Amino acid sequence: MLKTFQFSDISHTPYQRHIGTASEEIITRDAFNAATTEITAWEGYKPTPLHSLESLAAELGIGDIFYKDEGPRFGLGSFKALGGAYAAGKVLQRELTKKLDIPVTLADIRNGRYASEAKEITLVSATDGNHGRSLAWGAQRFGATCKIYIHKGVSEGRAEAMRQLGANVIRIDGDYDASVHLARKEADQNGWFVVSDTSWEGYVDPPLDVMAGYGVMTNEITDQLKTPPTHIFLQGGVGGLAASVCSALRQHWGQDTPRVIIVEPNLAACLFESARKDTVTTVEINEETMMAGLSCGEPSPIGWKILREEASDFIQITDELVAPSMRLLANPIGDDPFIEGGESAVAGLAAVISIALNPKLKDLLGVNEKSKVLVIGSEGATDKALYEKIMANE
Ligand SMILES: Cc1ncc(COP(=O)(O)O)c(C=O)c1O
Repeated sequence: MLKTFQFSDISHTPYQRHIGTASEEIITRDAFNAATTEITAWEGYKPTPLHSLESLAAELGIGDIFYKDEGPRFGLGSFKALGGAYAAGKVLQRELTKKLDIPVTLADIRNGRYASEAKEITLVSATDGNHGRSLAWGAQRFGATCKIYIHKGVSEGRAEAMRQLGANVIRIDGDYDASVHLARKEADQNGWFVVSDTSWEGYVDPPLDVMAGYGVMTNEITDQLKTPPTHIFLQGGVGGLAASVCSALRQHWGQDTPRVIIVEPNLAACLFESARKDTVTTVEINEETMMAGLSCGEPSPIGWKILREEASDFIQITDELVAPSMRLLANPIGDDPFIEGGESAVAGLAAVISIALNPKLKDLLGVNEKSKVLVIGSEGATDKALYEKIMANE
């Protein structure tokens, strides 16, 4: 099974981290705590599992591989359930407080106290699937109206999942970044509220709320692990997930926080390029990667501010590694558990396997039999049809 992982499918750049306090100041401890208090009060909240892939780790000569499986998250299939829905509640809270001129709480929003007022508010976002699903779910829960912009590469299965949650889904001809720009433009013209998982100049509150929401997952990890891992491999789209996780880990473990390695598809490696140029850098997407959640050409500037201080390595992988990694999770080695992981979920694991099979990279990254490696399985089979096709090896 491991033979299918090619050394040539990976490239690495080390990064000289900047010294600073971004991990404390951008998403504060208070922001993480507030998000955790709210989200853990939602109906259906349950921590997701953290699996130890002991047999795979032994085969690769690594101490431990931990896989945080976000597939079961709120029945929505990905960690994104935490971010968009929480940010939806926060936007409604801010807007209704302003409009009604009384302090509105998140519990008021959650309990439908201002449902008729919430219905008049339209929340919009661009998405490659998972963020939009979370926003649509949040808007439905809180009674707001929701419009979602998707690009030409988003599968019909993912679009339908958002329609099922009551969203009006608008498909455009361009790529992810074009859908972000259109959502912004139409929101400006119509008085709608953008709830984006990425930031831009003058627009930071909702993406900060989104990243604070992801902290629930990191909190669970630190509870489940007790002692810090040595390495964490974090997949990057706009960098929101990675930035949130490494801030929360730094806040929790301080100096003992793990070495942070960012993993992206080579077809959308904007964080890798940002590291090489040491400044936020946009890349053009000429071809869609099958890791749909990671197909982003523009980093989130607030995410980058954290990653430039926390990430030590940046890696690009090719799409060829994705299907073998998904099949490996579904047909595990030895006593490892069966895991249903989606295309974007396995990026970190694919990188770990490729590195473990490459003595030079293994040495460079300090991965050995003493290492405890953590990866985030950020989604389950969020596109069932594609998942089945991959399993059938078609
Ligand atoms: C399943 C999955 N994993 C990872 C990511 C990357 O998150 P970010 O764009 O915050 O870097 C996404 C983004 O949509 C995703 O859907």
